[in-house]
Amino acid sequence: MEGFEYRGGELFADQVSVDSIADAVGTPTYIYSAAALRASYRRVVEAFSPLGVQVHYAVKASSNLHLLRLLRGLGAGMDVVSGGELERAWIAGTPMAEIAFAGVGKTDEELRAALDGRYSLLGEDARRLAGRDAVGRGTVGLFNVESESELERLAVLAAELGTKAKVCIRVNPDVDPQTHEYITTGKEENKFGIEVHRVRGLFERFSRRRELDLVGLHVHIGSSVRQVEPYVAATRVLVSLVDELEAAGYPISLLDLGGGWAVDYRDGESLPLQAFGTALAPLLLDRVERGLKILIEPGRSIAANAGLLVTRVQHVKEGRKRRFVICDAGMQTLVRPALYQAFHFIWPTRAKDAQVPTAWTTTPHLPDLRQSNVVGPICESSDFLAKGRPLPEVERGDLLGVFSAGAYGMSMTSNYNDHPRPAEVLVDGSQVTLIGERQPLASLFECERQPRTVDLSALEKAEVSC
Ligand code: LLP
Repeated sequence: MEGFEYRGGELFADQVSVDSIADAVGTPTYIYSAAALRASYRRVVEAFSPLGVQVHYAVKASSNLHLLRLLRGLGAGMDVVSGGELERAWIAGTPMAEIAFAGVGKTDEELRAALDGRYSLLGEDARRLAGRDAVGRGTVGLFNVESESELERLAVLAAELGTKAKVCIRVNPDVDPQTHEYITTGKEENKFGIEVHRVRGLFERFSRRRELDLVGLHVHIGSSVRQVEPYVAATRVLVSLVDELEAAGYPISLLDLGGGWAVDYRDGESLPLQAFGTALAPLLLDRVERGLKILIEPGRSIAANAGLLVTRVQHVKEGRKRRFVICDAGMQTLVRPALYQAFHFIWPTRAKDAQVPTAWTTTPHLPDLRQSNVVGPICESSDFLAKGRPLPEVERGDLLGVFSAGAYGMSMTSNYNDHPRPAEVLVDGSQVTLIGERQPLASLFECERQPRTVDLSALEKAEVSC
């Protein structure tokens, strides 16, 4: 893995030993490699270069402000799915014009914030956090709209605020991406997007609204998609819809193809990104040459293999049939194994010569391994990082590296069982930067410190949030 490798039996992040980072900042900690992040971003751009795509990084994959700034520096726009992510992208220095706002459940407050900086959800904190005023920041570059109801609200709010919203309609192409059912988004039974046969009607109804600019179509079929065929099928659906719309007098200037490309959690389990770019190019090239713009929104393929979670073994418990390796990271730190039965390669950060892993597999062929369940401290049996995994001997105090944890790791952490969120570190060559402090335990209690009576007679004035 780029960025993380064993040298002399010790795991390194770029030029720095992972143990030294863990000793300095404690565990559990997410460590990101700047070199790996840059390399994966460039690979994405390269894979889709025939289409001259504009890349909007899916902030939800890994959203630390410093990682966003690094990606901005490489030219990325940002794809956001909540008012919180919108403000995050803006704080990180993304101009509003380079932010696309997706998501099925946008509230009026979020839509307003995306339309007009006076309604920033940061309120008076905007200047302190971003170093600049939100007022006057303008409107996001694109709204990816998921329902007729949302489109209507967007039109009403844009009219009220005297602005104009650029819109892509998210299409549900009813294509099976053959991934885990929880991260399948392009099938008819999923809540995402608008059915193909309804799209033209929306253009008929809304295209004349002065406060809307219906520029194109959006699709995102799911995440961790390993096959090319579902993308080809979804793109075909879009292309024929473009033909139908243009024939009906609605010019289409933008297609947003979403993200979703799988990465290697085990060696060789995913296709090179090139395969996706190459398969889609022939379907779109002639239109691109005639001026159609293509946008993509990758998250995992940029962030996953640029991140490692390091956790310390707290206890080892021998059972009659299995050994439990109990760590300070668990489902509160990395929920993917519990939620999607996801595989992450896990290995001690120090390995004897013969036990240095040469490949990430479920069953490494190395001597003296023992079946282990790697688990966390949470009071649930769903709290595991790996089950029945052959691992070297480990002892209390040892460190384990959980690989490919850069996407949907930190961003899905929780405070369950009152564990503070982990620290985040960025390694760039030999430079180590703490980019996210371990959450202070006291902050967990802040919102509950001062109970106050809610005045129901003046409900509109009551502030129940903290
Ligand atoms: N665009 C939209 C509209 C999305 O919903 C997503 C991901 C992406 C782009 C980025 O997809 P990516 O390139 O990262 O696959 N928590 C799950 C993944 C959920 C993905 C949600 N949407 C996991 O840990 O596997």
